[in-house]
This record gives sequence, C-alpha cells and structure tokens, in this order.
Amino acid sequence: MIVYKTKYQSTKKYAERLSQKLDAPMLEADKIKLRDIKDYDTVVYLGGAYIGSILGFNFIKKNYTLIKDKKIIVGAVALTSKLYEAKQRLAQHNLTEEMKGKVPLYVLRGAVDYSKMNFIDRFLMSLLVKMEKKKDEKDWDEDTKALIESYGKSADFTDEKYLEPILKELNVQ
Ligand SMILES: Cc1cc2nc3c(=O)[nH]c(=O)nc-3n(C[C@H](O)[C@H](O)[C@H](O)COP(=O)(O)O)c2cc1C
Repeated sequence: MIVYKTKYQSTKKYAERLSQKLDAPMLEADKIKLRDIKDYDTVVYLGGAYIGSILGFNFIKKNYTLIKDKKIIVGAVALTSKLYEAKQRLAQHNLTEEMKGKVPLYVLRGAVDYSKMNFIDRFLMSLLVKMEKKKDEKDWDEDTKALIESYGKSADFTDEKYLEPILKELNVQ
C-alpha cells in the first residue's frame, strides 16, 4: 500500500509509478483512516520535503504504535542533489527514536515550478535565494547554483531511478 502527500504533484508522480510497478493501491494521507491500511503488511509513505519536514508524515508518527509491526518505508521527495546528506537530515528530523534504525528512509529528487507555487511558498523561496546570494559566489555549490538559476522558473529532477532503492527494499526489480 502506498500512502502519499504532495503539494505540487512530483510526489504523486512517484506514487503513481510505484503503484503501477508494485500493482499496489495508493491513497492520499489526508484521505485515509487507519482501517484503510490495516490489512497491508507493507506501507510505503511518500511525502514532499518542506523546510526539513516530510509532508503528511504525522499520520505515520501518530499511528506508529498501532502499525509498527508492518514494514514501513519512507520516501522524501526533495529538491537537493545531495541525497546522502538530505537522507541523514530528514531521518534525524522526521523519524522518532523508535523508528530510527527500523524504518528506512530514501530521498527522491523532485521538481519546482514557480508558476504553480502559492504566495507563501514563493515568498519563502525568495528569502532562501536572497540568503544564498549573500554568500560569495565561489562558495555556491551545485544546489545553490540550481536554486538560483531556477528561481522564478521551473526545474524537474524527477527520475524513476530514484525509486530503485525502495524497490530493492521490497525485493522487486
Ligand atoms: C517552501 C518550500 C520549502 C522547501 N524545502 C525544501 C527542503 O527543505 N529541502 C529540499 O531538498 N527541498 C525543499 N523544497 C523543494 C521540494 O521538496 C520539492 O519541490 C518537491 O518536489 C516537492 O514535492 P511535491 O511536488 O510533491 O509537493 C522546498 C520547496 C518549497 C516550495
């Protein structure tokens, strides 16, 4: 069973692809009740990463004691190219102590499209870009460059290859 929450659709794209590959149902985190997942042994939770938090992940956290015997795999959809660092940071920030070491978390690259962004998100991104631009240009890394270059436009880094670690975790090729 795949549970997901998206704001700008890139997470939904991954959820749909995974649902096809696994021939498994997918449901939006906002729309589900615990009883919807009770019959499944495995739950893959996919959520967009927003300022270090995984969208909608509270559903899993809140119900963890009741579902901890299931295999739970988390996929966070984020813009960064630094997958290893993001994985560490997102796991530290979002997984409870009980989940750490038990619930695997993977990072999948997402997308941005300023034309679809709401006012608050656009404002937050403008602050972030402003902050990064204050740094000396020679200290800009690939992520900073991509953030500044794509500011106001759109960039899509989604790729099916990012689903591979999750499929491997599930012993699916
Ligand atoms: C306000 C805002 C905050 C974000 N925070 C992060 C972040 O902390 N780390 C990151 O890698 N990407 C961040 N992103 C990028 C999103 O994770 C990326 O756009 C992702 O594809 C969103 O998933 P969704 O399209 O399913 O909503 C942020 C984007 C916005 C608009």
